[in-house]
Amino acid sequence: MKHTTSQDSINRRSFLKSTAAVSAGLAFSPYILGQTESGESPDDLNVALLGAGAQGQALLNACKDIPGIRFKAVCDIWKTYNLRRTSRILQSQGHDVKDYVDYQEMLADQKDLDAVIIATPDFWHSPHACACLEAGLHVYCEKEMSNTIEGAKKMVETAKKTGKLLQIGHQRRSNPRYQHCYNKLIKEANLMSQITTINGQWNRGKNSCEDLGAIRDADIDTATLEKYGFKSMQQFRNWRWYKGLGGGPIVDLGSHQIDIYSWFLEANPKSVIASGGIDYWKAHDWYDHVMAIYEYETKLGTVRAFYQTITTNSAQGYFEQFMGVEGTLVISESSGRGTMYRESWVDIAKWEPWTKLGYITAIEEEEKAPSEDTGVILDVRESPTPPAYDIPVSMEGKLVHQPHLENFFDSIRGKAKLNCPAEIGFETAVTVLKVNEAIEAGRKLDFKPEEFKA
Ligand SMILES: NC(=O)c1ccc[n+]([C@@H]2O[C@H](COP(=O)([O-])OP(=O)(O)OC[C@H]3O[C@@H](n4cnc5c(N)ncnc54)[C@H](O)[C@@H]3O)[C@@H](O)[C@H]2O)c1
Repeated sequence: MKHTTSQDSINRRSFLKSTAAVSAGLAFSPYILGQTESGESPDDLNVALLGAGAQGQALLNACKDIPGIRFKAVCDIWKTYNLRRTSRILQSQGHDVKDYVDYQEMLADQKDLDAVIIATPDFWHSPHACACLEAGLHVYCEKEMSNTIEGAKKMVETAKKTGKLLQIGHQRRSNPRYQHCYNKLIKEANLMSQITTINGQWNRGKNSCEDLGAIRDADIDTATLEKYGFKSMQQFRNWRWYKGLGGGPIVDLGSHQIDIYSWFLEANPKSVIASGGIDYWKAHDWYDHVMAIYEYETKLGTVRAFYQTITTNSAQGYFEQFMGVEGTLVISESSGRGTMYRESWVDIAKWEPWTKLGYITAIEEEEKAPSEDTGVILDVRESPTPPAYDIPVSMEGKLVHQPHLENFFDSIRGKAKLNCPAEIGFETAVTVLKVNEAIEAGRKLDFKPEEFKA
């Protein structure tokens, strides 16, 4: 294979930065096929991490097995803790990173970056993403895209204007298990027939919802906290619970799953009604228990979609359950959960072609139902236990965020298209932020179709 020169390497970087080629998402350059004289792969990307907290760490871990990712900078306002810790980890992994407290300083100083991963609190996403896009970087930005519609809209507009890629961190969109459910089980096999109802939840127990406390000798001074929009260390550590900073559990957790509702239904909702309150965690601004019902109008008819997130009981954890006339799909990012159920009146022969193709695997009767000699007597009013099927697709050993990051980097390289571009992230933000509004209003709120357009 022809080796490129260092000039080629520079040209390749210019190519990656070139607006039209990259925003098309499909362009291919001769420069990304070769190898530089220095031994670097021309597919290598220079990346910065902006926001090195819990999720920043998770994303770094998920990048470890992705070839060609070179971290050059890490930026975080928590200099004495997250910045220092993350920088050390990256250095120990062989990345030559420079540390920054302020993102503007980083953007002014680091001229060789291709992309940035943003994992700061929600209220910083819009200013951070827009500044990075304007500086010529491709952006992977965590959900919730923004804590405000205006902020999210500005991100879509800036991505369009700059021609840079903006991937929003709804990582289930790149998860092979979810893709299998959408592409094979729903679109191709149509195993559930008409979906009429959805039920989903993310329930957490009290122990996992306690406020995060201080870290010894690591407090940020008040002036710095205020400069970056936080009133106190307590608020800084627990920003998701505060108005103006995050959106509470419905936005933090619900957005992942409600995003799947709309994806699988290929529709945005037409209304939402919700109940919520500050029921248990009295010191916070946002609702700690939320129940919402969306109504969707799809090509096949009305779908009513329930979603619940609570913070005092962890029963049944988190999952999404799609219920159709002929079957049910239960799926979760938690890898132990993924099952299809055939309504017992549906002829087994109708599902057999799909088991033969390996789309689903029948679970043997004795594995799922109590055997006769257990003495369990089923209530005659209950339907027979529906026949169950496994979804035989795994993460292949990857961490949950890895495929979404791979999709982002491959899109920069011109080898893929973003699975969650800004426009999709925007639709989900509109859908989810309305729940808090509906709780406050105490009534059903309608969505106008134009609300979903940025
Ligand atoms: N996709 C997922 O599964 C997932 C999971 C968890 C969190 N998230 C998202 O990731 C983001 C971060 O969440 P987290 O749990 O890591 O929060 P966190 O509080 O643990 O981390 C946030 C980090 O950002 C830093 N920071 C705050 N303001 C900053 C600024 N102006 N400039 C630079 N650094 C700043 C903080 O010092 C902290 O280190 C949120 O948007 C959250 O919704 C996504």
